[in-house]
Amino acid sequence: MRIRVFGSADALARTLALDISRRVGDKPRMVLGLPTGRTPIPLYRELVRLHRSGRIDFSQATTFNLDEFLGLTPGDPRSYRAFMQRHLFDRVNVSPRRIQFLNGTPVDVGRECQRYERAIERAGGIDLQILGLGMNGHIGFNEPARALMARTHLTHLKPATRRANARFFDNRTGSVPREALSMGMATILHSRRIVLLATGATKARCVQRLIEGPVTPRLPGSFLQLHRSAEIWLDRAAASNLKR
Ligand code: F6R
Repeated sequence: MRIRVFGSADALARTLALDISRRVGDKPRMVLGLPTGRTPIPLYRELVRLHRSGRIDFSQATTFNLDEFLGLTPGDPRSYRAFMQRHLFDRVNVSPRRIQFLNGTPVDVGRECQRYERAIERAGGIDLQILGLGMNGHIGFNEPARALMARTHLTHLKPATRRANARFFDNRTGSVPREALSMGMATILHSRRIVLLATGATKARCVQRLIEGPVTPRLPGSFLQLHRSAEIWLDRAAASNLKR
């Protein structure tokens, strides 16, 4: 894995946004995999800025988000879909029909998961998957477990993950859905390039285990060690536990 350490989360976001704008310039029909959460917010801000200054055109790009809470409609302000609209989609020119999202209120969960897998396949696979990292080592909503699911699936959120998401739910952990739909480990690992972002001291311990520890389902992010083109982009605080 290639590790890159930046002086600040903003410097990281600027560099990655420029990198994405160059790649979308080279391949306008780029397929992007996107996370929600605190970590990518500066990146989305930078992408909006580049778009406004005419340096990135998303009109031909396709996006697939990693996950969605079960039971929330796309119009629910607490949904991940609404988060993406606020932070990125409403502010750039991604074509609404090229925005792919898991439906949090499907009639049939199994079919919805299959539909998503097929849509990714039909788009030609994901060119660049951006990931955040849960404090417990999850990627997407693939939570630490004895065994991990390969494909898009229904997942039960750990108490720590529900606590971390309470900010979207009036700070009430009890209101955070217990279940979500998420891309699986193989869905993520089949992406051609993966960039995992981690910023802030609270991620330092997990980042150290992900990079220097064994590959284990107890820390799903560690599976990135098996990918031929995975990059870990950190700010100094998140890199502070690394030995080298
Ligand atoms: C969200 C997602 C999660 C987050 C992770 C880190 O779509 O897939 O894996 O990336 O929980 O969240 P933050 O960035 O809020 O620390």
